[in-house]
Amino acid sequence: MYRLVCVHCGENYAPDEIIYNCRRCGHLLAVQYDLDNIAVSRKEWDKRPLSVWRYREILPVTIDPVTLFEGGTPLYHLKTIGKELGLSQLYAKHEGMNPSGSFKDRGMTVGVSMALQLKKTHVACASTGNTSASLAVYAAKAGIPAVVLLPAGKVALGKVAQALMHGANVISIRGNFDKALEMVHDLCLSHGLYLLNSVNPYRLEGQKTIGFEAIDQLGGVPDRIVLPVGNAGNISAVHKGLNELIELGFIDRLPMMTGIQAAGSAPVVDAIQNNLPEVVPEKNPETVATAIRIGAPVNAEKALTAIRKTGGTAISVTDAEILRMQRDLARKEGVGVEPASAASVAGVRRLVEEGIIDRNERIVCVVTGHLLKDPETVIKQCEPPTEIDADLASLCSALHL
Ligand code: F0G
Repeated sequence: MYRLVCVHCGENYAPDEIIYNCRRCGHLLAVQYDLDNIAVSRKEWDKRPLSVWRYREILPVTIDPVTLFEGGTPLYHLKTIGKELGLSQLYAKHEGMNPSGSFKDRGMTVGVSMALQLKKTHVACASTGNTSASLAVYAAKAGIPAVVLLPAGKVALGKVAQALMHGANVISIRGNFDKALEMVHDLCLSHGLYLLNSVNPYRLEGQKTIGFEAIDQLGGVPDRIVLPVGNAGNISAVHKGLNELIELGFIDRLPMMTGIQAAGSAPVVDAIQNNLPEVVPEKNPETVATAIRIGAPVNAEKALTAIRKTGGTAISVTDAEILRMQRDLARKEGVGVEPASAASVAGVRRLVEEGIIDRNERIVCVVTGHLLKDPETVIKQCEPPTEIDADLASLCSALHL
C-alpha cells in the first residue's frame, strides 16, 4: 500500500529496497501511501490510546512493532510564559516524556520495526546524542546490535550514558556530527548495516505523528507549529504528515511551519532569511544546544519547502536566549527540557518581539528532549545546593528563619 518516492525527481522504488538516496538524482526518498485505498477513519483513531501506533494505517510497519509505548506525550498550556508574551494560546508538546526522553523514540519504534520487517540484523546511526540513545534502547528491545557514532566531547552526558547502558557499540569520532553522518552512511552502504538516521524514510514516518497528536489534543489545527531544527528531519516529517491529513480530508489547512536554530549553527535560517534556493553548509557549527549543533542538515530541501509552502519562517536564537528560556520553562511552567528544546519557545519570544507572530495565534512549540539529558548544562546555570551540618538550627539558619 506504499512505495518510496524521490522527493526531488519523483523516481519510484519498491518499499523493500534498502535505499536512502535516489539512484537517479541522489536526493532523499519519502514514503508515499495510496491514501485513496487505505481504510482509515478518524473515529477509529479516536478510540485508540494517544500514541504513535494510533495512526498505524499510515505507518509502513506490517509486523508486530518493537514498541515501548512511545508518543502520547502531554501538551501543556504555557500560561505564565504565554501571559508574559501576550499569547493566550501558547502550548508545548513535551517530547521529553517519551521512553528514552526525546522525540526520537517515535522514529525509532518505526525504524527499528522496519529493520526487522526488512530482515536486517544490525542497525547504526550517527548522532548528536538523542538518536543514539533512542536507537540503543530500541535495538535492545529488538535484540539486535547497534553501532552509534558520536562527535567526541560534544554529546550531553545523559545521552552518552543511555547509549552505553543500553548496550550500543559507542564510537566517538574526532570530528563533528556532519562528518559522523557521512562516515556511518558509508559504513552502512559498504557493510549492510541498516542506517537509522533521518535519511531513512521510514524513521521519519514515526516522527510525523507529533503533528497528528497535537491536532488531536487541541481539537483542531494550530496556527503555527514551532520546532528546533538540526538535521531538519523533524520539521519535514511533521509537514509531510499534515499533508497526508489534508489529502485524507481530516484537516483543511496547514499550520505555519516555523523552524528555530541556534545562532552559529543556522544554515536553514540563512537560506530562509536570504531567500536562497538551498542551504549553504556551516563548516564549524557551534552552540550550547549540542543536539542541534549541525552545519549541513541533510533534510534541508524538505524543510525549506515546508516553511515556504506554509507561510512559516525560520529564525535563530542565541545561546543566552536558549538558556534563559530553559530556566523559564523549568521555573515558571514546571517543564524541564534540554537546551535545544527550549530553542523553540525562545524562538517564539523573539518572533513576538519582532512583531512576526500575531498575538491571536494558537501556537504549539515542540519541546524535543528532557532536562535530564544534559545535566551538566543545568548544573552550570544553578547555584550549588547549600551544604549544612545535620541539625535543625543549621537548617533554620540556612533558610534564614
Ligand atoms: N531537539 C533535540 C533534542 C534533538 O536531539 C534534535 C536532533 C533536534 C531537536 C533537531 O531535530 O535533526 O530532526 O531537525 N538530534 C539529532 C540526534 C541530530 O542525533 O540526536 P532534527
